[in-house]
Amino acid sequence: MEKQTGEQAGNKAALRAGIALVVFGAIGALLVFGDPATVYPWVKALHVIAVISWMAGLLYLPRLFIYHTDAAPGSEKAETFKVMEQRLLKIIMRPAMIFSWIFGLYLAWKVHQFQGGWLHAKLLAVVLLSGTHEFFAKSARDFARDDIRHTARFWRLMNEIPTVLMIVIVILVIVQPF
Ligand code: HEM
Repeated sequence: MEKQTGEQAGNKAALRAGIALVVFGAIGALLVFGDPATVYPWVKALHVIAVISWMAGLLYLPRLFIYHTDAAPGSEKAETFKVMEQRLLKIIMRPAMIFSWIFGLYLAWKVHQFQGGWLHAKLLAVVLLSGTHEFFAKSARDFARDDIRHTARFWRLMNEIPTVLMIVIVILVIVQPF
């Protein structure tokens, strides 16, 4: 594969920034100026799509860390895991987390006026989930430097955190027990 020049990389980054600007602008305009009765179910659908994508990454990344921990530093396998981890984080997980927050906060504000015990508990659980995401992102940066800080057993345990939080969040938002 040909290596891209600095100018090509700059053009690509500018294109990505332009697309992000248009997408965020369109979503912002929809949220602010759209008719709430039409916008609400669409925002909820987009929220659930973003959440599913985010969760897929949160459940898969620690599994990659388990295999990465057992790969010899510098080996072809270890280098492949680094690429997979960075792409999963940058292309799927980070945008999905941002969109989950934007649409979720819109629903919390417009539909529930930030009221309700279940909503406050859900927000706390989602803050914990976001903290888990940031810890995974930091760990992926450590792995990228061949800085292996934890055992495979540790990552097996960490794998359970997003699972437990997801179960709690879905029960809170659907059952709304308090
Ligand atoms: C990122 C921050 C988040 C915020 C601020 C947020 C907030 C909200 C709010 C206010 C609703 C509307 C509830 C209703 O109108 O009945 C909602 C819907 C929903 N949320 Fe979230 N949420 C977030 C993240 C998550 C996560 C991480 C999950 C799953 C793991 C999730 C799962 C859902 C589901 C399944 C619904 C649809 C519920 C229904 O239609 O009854 N949310 N969210």
